[in-house]
Amino acid sequence: MKTMSQPEIVVLPDLETISRAAAGRVAALAQACDPFTVALSGGSTPRRLYELLAASPFRERIPWAQTHVFWGDERCVPPDHPDSNYHLARQALLDRVPLLARNVHRILGELEPEQAAAAYRAELLTALGDDRRFDLVLLGLGDDGHTASLFPGTAALQERTLAAAVVYVERLASWRITLTLPTLNAARHVLFLVSGANKAPALVRVLAGEPLPAGLVRPPQGQLTWLVDRAAHPPKTSGRP
Ligand code: 6PG
Repeated sequence: MKTMSQPEIVVLPDLETISRAAAGRVAALAQACDPFTVALSGGSTPRRLYELLAASPFRERIPWAQTHVFWGDERCVPPDHPDSNYHLARQALLDRVPLLARNVHRILGELEPEQAAAAYRAELLTALGDDRRFDLVLLGLGDDGHTASLFPGTAALQERTLAAAVVYVERLASWRITLTLPTLNAARHVLFLVSGANKAPALVRVLAGEPLPAGLVRPPQGQLTWLVDRAAHPPKTSGRP
């Protein structure tokens, strides 16, 4: 029985250096997988990574024709809405690289939430097959320990059958579609990108093994990597004044 590999934790100086390190890993995985299936994360942290992937030298290293792009989650808004994760990726990456349109598997945020989730589940089944295994899932960390749109206390966090689910985030008054833990944990590689001092308290708790949503992402047959900057993972003080 393969034991769960230990998470790899890489601490680098800042957002630029973790983004460059992530770009190198994305490119290496893309070259090793044909087809290459990747679920993009949302929020603001990955913007720099996406910009790097769309520019030299990374742009030339990635076999875009065999790359399939998905999302780890999406806000239930139209694709041109400023809150849309697709909108972020389109501006920073999709419009700048030769991906095939049929290989961009957008979550249809403009639909009613249940319809959007059902459509995405069908897309995942068609594109990934029964094993629903992504080659790479990119994830961020919320300051409350959420990841994708798996927020603490939400029913979606308990979903063990459906590959993607609807979630209503009370504190944000926001409907979301999110990949569920079974899908995240089926991935061959999971790469968290975490930047900023506001993430440090949640990151400490997650890495200490607390069952916050991000801490439940432990792919048993996959490699888990945390790329974090110094602000999110400050050196342990010796306790001396
Ligand atoms: C989203 C993301 C979410 C994000 C974290 C961190 O749709 O918002 O999927 O999980 O990764 O909230 O967001 P920032 O990168 O903006 O800090």
